[in-house]
Amino acid sequence: MQLPDNFHIAVIMDGNGRWGEIHKKNRVAGHEAGMNRVGELFDESTKLGIRHLTLFAFSTENWKRSSFEVNGLMRIFREYIKRESAKILGENVRVKFIGDKAAFSKDLIAMMISLEDQTKENTGLQLNVAMNYGGHDEILRATRKLLAQNIAPEDLTKELFENALDTAGTPPVDLLVRTSGEQRISNFLLWQAAYAELYFTDTLWPDFDANELKKSIAYYNERTRRFGGN
Ligand code: FPP
Repeated sequence: MQLPDNFHIAVIMDGNGRWGEIHKKNRVAGHEAGMNRVGELFDESTKLGIRHLTLFAFSTENWKRSSFEVNGLMRIFREYIKRESAKILGENVRVKFIGDKAAFSKDLIAMMISLEDQTKENTGLQLNVAMNYGGHDEILRATRKLLAQNIAPEDLTKELFENALDTAGTPPVDLLVRTSGEQRISNFLLWQAAYAELYFTDTLWPDFDANELKKSIAYYNERTRRFGGN
């Protein structure tokens, strides 16, 4: 499968709640099944030579869900980091959590920072996990950072702005995948996905396997990217 250098794929892992309900369990069971799919995506991405993978795990708006669901997700995030750290470390993956960490509990923040620190020199797949992430919030935080540095308006360049975003150093998104039939960006990577190819599938996230990933890449390979030119 042919892929450009430095390929960046971003995924909105949607449909966990519905999957949980359809399988006569609850929404949190759906998120658990969703978490169990992440490893396969990750392995297949490494196999295919994908360099950058960004996953939307929790949005700035997801706090509005029931406390049962939010607490369930927090438990799943802790479990994920505990369970997968050894694998991540062993596979030369570099992990970065994008979004505003400050809203999470102290122990979860410490776990996220520790995984980032332990993997920061790794040179394999770059895995960005978006947690308490929103595109609007990221752009506002970047703007505040720049204003605090007293940058003169005429000195502000695209490069400086991109370096103030959570994704500093990551190339723009090439392919944005959203599962579960919804066709929305939902405040994800608004700046970075400006020219991304969009791939929507009806498959619910917990059913999205290696073959589904290959289908999305085959779709990408059929597109002609013009970046506004012709
Ligand atoms: C959207 O489905 C999914 C989420 C809000 C959570 C995504 C989290 C995981 C897959 C678990 C762990 C992942 C990592 C990387 C640690 P939804 O609940 O909106 O589904 P619905 O549209 O059916 O309600």
